[in-house]
Amino acid sequence: MMHGLTLLLLGLAWIGHAYLWTGILNNLYARPLPKTFLKGWRYFTAVLILAFPLVMGSVIAAIPPESLAEAFAGGWARIVGLYGLVCCGFSAVFVVVTIQRGLRRPPECVQSEQTRTLDWWPEYGHALIGNGKGRFLTRLPGNGVFRLDITEYTVALPDLPRSWNGLTYLILSDLHFHGTPSRLYFDRMMEELLRGPTPDIVCLVGDYLDTDVHHEWIEPLLGRLPARDAKWAILGNHDVHHDPARVRAALTRAGYTVLSNRWERVSIRGVPCVVVGHEGPWLTPPPELSEAPGDAFRVCLSHTPDHFYWAQAQKIQLMFCGHVHGGGIRVPLIGSIFVPSKYGRRFDGGVFHENPTVMIVSRGISGKEPIRIRCNPQVLRVTLQPLNSSSHRG
Ligand SMILES: [Fe+2]
Repeated sequence: MMHGLTLLLLGLAWIGHAYLWTGILNNLYARPLPKTFLKGWRYFTAVLILAFPLVMGSVIAAIPPESLAEAFAGGWARIVGLYGLVCCGFSAVFVVVTIQRGLRRPPECVQSEQTRTLDWWPEYGHALIGNGKGRFLTRLPGNGVFRLDITEYTVALPDLPRSWNGLTYLILSDLHFHGTPSRLYFDRMMEELLRGPTPDIVCLVGDYLDTDVHHEWIEPLLGRLPARDAKWAILGNHDVHHDPARVRAALTRAGYTVLSNRWERVSIRGVPCVVVGHEGPWLTPPPELSEAPGDAFRVCLSHTPDHFYWAQAQKIQLMFCGHVHGGGIRVPLIGSIFVPSKYGRRFDGGVFHENPTVMIVSRGISGKEPIRIRCNPQVLRVTLQPLNSSSHRG
């Protein structure tokens, strides 16, 4: 029979062990590594996490409680014991970070945030599922893959050009066309967006498809979105595997300026500014801004939010990202777990502000695996205001 304290330590060590190896997995998924390696590492991590309590538990259970300290004092058992202690330390870090995240509030620049959720399942049911890979996952209890959040942010920025007061962006990310959700789902989404106010600028921040045939969905779906001033797009890591030149051509036909890893001088409401695309680290070289005008407002589309600190260094004032899907599965009290980012869960969704950069991260619309638990798909509408305008956070 295992001692109560031993059981508690084993539990803490398991949490720390899972946190450590999930962190390594998240970090690797942020990098341009071969898909087969990443897939293999994912299974390896799952086995490692699940095996821990069985292996450690059976080792400890075989030792009489009064001999535990003695048993872990030398040889391999000592290394195992030390690893267990390190894991207990990681579990403490996990608890502290999770509490900090739970207490986190949107930055002051967020003047208002409103979300409207659309659910087409009651009306269309199984017609939304389609024939893509993993379609059986859509019927898992609690899967919100067909519930779309339309989140509207009003964001106040310092040094906003006067004529940009009220400028609106529509941001779509991570469509992952592969058959599930079906074409009907995306048609309904577009109809809904067309019913709303016409944005000044539409931004698409990558990951359009997961097959070699769904390029044909890009133009008829995304080409329907109108914009008063501009339509910009970049590619994501999944597009790299499915003829990226064809993806760019389809986006261009749909009326988008495909920025790739470049910056351009543009004029929005008569104000000259710089718009930057960042498709790295999957597509290189990263954008080079040394020649860009230093006094112009800088907007960036980056597939991953991992470029937040790069954007700060480049004096980018506004950046839109996707890629992380909000973690896809969010556990009560804990939040996201699997987030393909070098920074783990830090930038899993929402607004982040460290001068001079405001970064807005979308949870995206779909995924290669159609699973969303307490993490609805999301479209963003962002309205800009000058900081110190009359409105206050609502
Ligand atoms: Fe991605």
